[in-house]
Amino acid sequence: MIEMENVQQESKKVIFSAIQPSGTLTLGNYLGALKNWAALQDEFNCIYSVADLHAITVRQEPAKFRKQIIETFALLLAIGIDPQKSLVFIQSQVSQHAELAWILNCNTQFGELSRMTQFKDKSARHADNVNVGLFAYPSLMAADILLYQADLVPVGADQKQHLELSRDIAIRMNNVYGNCFTVPEPYIPKIGARVMSLQDPSKKMSKSDDNINAYVAILDKPEDIMRKFKRAVTDSEACVKYGEGKDGINNLMGIYSAVTGKSYDDIQAEFEGKGYGDFKTAVGEAVVEQLRPIRERFDNLMKDKAYLETIYHDGAAKASYIAGKTLNKIQRKVGFLKR
Ligand code: TRP
Repeated sequence: MIEMENVQQESKKVIFSAIQPSGTLTLGNYLGALKNWAALQDEFNCIYSVADLHAITVRQEPAKFRKQIIETFALLLAIGIDPQKSLVFIQSQVSQHAELAWILNCNTQFGELSRMTQFKDKSARHADNVNVGLFAYPSLMAADILLYQADLVPVGADQKQHLELSRDIAIRMNNVYGNCFTVPEPYIPKIGARVMSLQDPSKKMSKSDDNINAYVAILDKPEDIMRKFKRAVTDSEACVKYGEGKDGINNLMGIYSAVTGKSYDDIQAEFEGKGYGDFKTAVGEAVVEQLRPIRERFDNLMKDKAYLETIYHDGAAKASYIAGKTLNKIQRKVGFLKR
C-alpha cells in the first residue's frame, strides 16, 4: 500500500508558480490565479513561491518591502495553500535561483530579452531605472521554473511570453548540454475569471488604480467591499444578462459566478425582474463571505510570526534540496568543477 502511494506521488505532475510581493493583492489576483493554486494541490505536486527577487527589479523601500514579503507569504497560507501538501517558500531564501539564473543568462540572447513586451512596457514606465535585472527578469523566471523540473506553469496572459522564453531556454540547454530540463507547458485552468475594474470595466482590475473604488483587495473590510460593489459602474438597461456593451454587468456576473459556482443562466434566472441594486448587493455579499475566512486566517497568521517563520524556513530547506540537485547537475554539465 505504502509503495503504491509512493508511485502515485511520483507520477503527479509538477506545477510551479510564483507571485511578486509588490503590494495589495486584489480580488482579481484571487479569482484569476490564487484560488486556483489552492484547488490544484491534490491533483498535482505544487510548488509556490513569493518572488521577492523579481520584485526588486523596481525600487522597493526596504522596511515596507520586508512587510510585504511576509504578508504575501501569510496570504498564500490564508487562501488555503497547505504546507503539508505543497511546497511554499520565499524565493530569495533559496540561493539556487540566482545561481541558475546566471547560467541561463549566459544562454539567453540579448535580442530575445529585448523583444519581451513587459520589458518594453516597464522600461517606459520606469525610465529612470532601466536596470539589468529588469532586462534579465525572464531568465530568472526560467530559473524558478526549471530548477524544479516543472511540467506545468499556470500563468495569465501577461506572463505567456515569459513562459515561452523559458521553454526556448530549456530546449536550447537540452540541445547544447543534453538532458538538462523538463520543458514546461502552460497550464490553462478550468476555472478562473478575468476580473475587470469596477469603475472602468474595459480595464483589468488593478491595485495600482488611482481610484480605490476600482478594485477590491483580498483583505478589504466587508463594509468597504460592499461600498465598492454598490458603486460599480454598470449600464442603463437594468437587466441582469450577459451581453455586448454590458462590460460592467458581464464583469459582475463573472465575479458572482466564480465565487458561487453558479452558471450565467442560473444568475440570469435568479435576478429576473430585479434591479441592479439587488444584484450588486448579492455580488458584494457573496464576495464578503468568500473573503471573510481568508482575512480571518491572515490576521491570525500575522499574530504568529514564529509559526510563519517555521513554515518558510522549512519550505526554503525543502526547495533548496530539490533546486540543489538540478543546479549541481547543470554546473557539472556546463563544466564547472565539483565543489
Ligand atoms: N513574473 C510573475 C508575475 O509577475 C511572477 C513569477 C516569478 C512567476 N517567477 C515565476 C510566475 C515563475 C510563474 C513562474 O506574475
